[in-house]
Amino acid sequence: PASDPDLVARAVKAKAALGERLFVLGHHYQRDEVIQFADVTGDSFKLAREAAARPQAEFIVFCGVHFMAESADILTGDAQRVVLPDLAAGCSMADMATFDQVEEAWEVLSDLGVAEVTVPITYMNSSADIKAFCGRNGGAVCTSSNARRALTWAFDQTPEGPAKRAGDRKVFFLPDQHLGRNTAVLEMGFSLDDCVVYNPHRPNGGLTDQQIRDAKVILWRGHCSVHGRFTPECVDEVRERVPGVNVLVHPECRYEVVTKADHVGSTEYIIKMLDEAPAGSSWAVGTELNLVKRLAARHPDKTVTFLDRTVCYCSTMNRIDLPHLVWALESLVEGDVVNQITVDPQTTHWAKVALDRMLALP
Ligand code: 13P
Ligand code: SF4
Repeated sequence: PASDPDLVARAVKAKAALGERLFVLGHHYQRDEVIQFADVTGDSFKLAREAAARPQAEFIVFCGVHFMAESADILTGDAQRVVLPDLAAGCSMADMATFDQVEEAWEVLSDLGVAEVTVPITYMNSSADIKAFCGRNGGAVCTSSNARRALTWAFDQTPEGPAKRAGDRKVFFLPDQHLGRNTAVLEMGFSLDDCVVYNPHRPNGGLTDQQIRDAKVILWRGHCSVHGRFTPECVDEVRERVPGVNVLVHPECRYEVVTKADHVGSTEYIIKMLDEAPAGSSWAVGTELNLVKRLAARHPDKTVTFLDRTVCYCSTMNRIDLPHLVWALESLVEGDVVNQITVDPQTTHWAKVALDRMLALP
């Protein structure tokens, strides 16, 4: 449905009143009614860089989810304040790895003597204290657009890391098992047997000591509830329904789905693929529905369908709606900084170490 014209007018007015003091970032999975007010749209990686590159903005209103707003706070100076229009906009995947669980797992690795040859890498979709854990332990953050580069970095000698022989090296990948597996196996030549899944709800992660010692990639047992819904059967079904269709999916999808697809990549990659696709071509896209609908509207000369037959929005991304955005903006006009996201200095320090390592990847 079209946005409420009264709310649209109020958002326009508040943005104009704040002028250069305000910078609005919008993730690609946001609703149309919200994304129209973003100064910059992007995937997690692009938005992290944009947040860091706008020191003159006093207020950064982040239309995305909590871990993204935390990252923006970590990457920006003390004078900049980051606002998340609805505090209930979390991420179920990020919630699957708590700091205590990760510390406990690291102790298991330490007791086995493997922590010293293991580099922790966390997907951007994680809380600030998990990023800080990685920063403190010689690791880094990655996003879906640079996971391969981050893993390659982790398996190479790093100046900060302990001296490690390449043969011994392991990566502890948090919290998305699918991104970790898809990257290690499909992009870097590891076998499925090189990867094990650490289940934080089981003693020893549900693994034997030998399994942990033999593994090259220890994957955390987390996943995205949106991308996890696509199945190999969805791919078969769309291939039957749309002859000649190109199947394009996000790497948060399961391995069995990604191996059946024609292309895999981050949201920025998906957008670029469709921009460059020839007129008349057909595409089935396996990612969040707000983005797929926008892509279909933007490419009327191409057939763009959703990979699943059922509705598949990210419910937490959708928490940010126009009423919440207007409330946040009008509060800022009145001098009231609502829903500010702040990360404590100690966590900020180490999380920034991990984020800076990502931003410095070649
Ligand atoms: P990217 O923005 O890195 O493609 O990640 C998708 C996602 O699920 C964000 O929550
Ligand atoms: Fe989290 Fe998945 Fe939603 Fe992204 S799409 S915010 S990973 S639940």
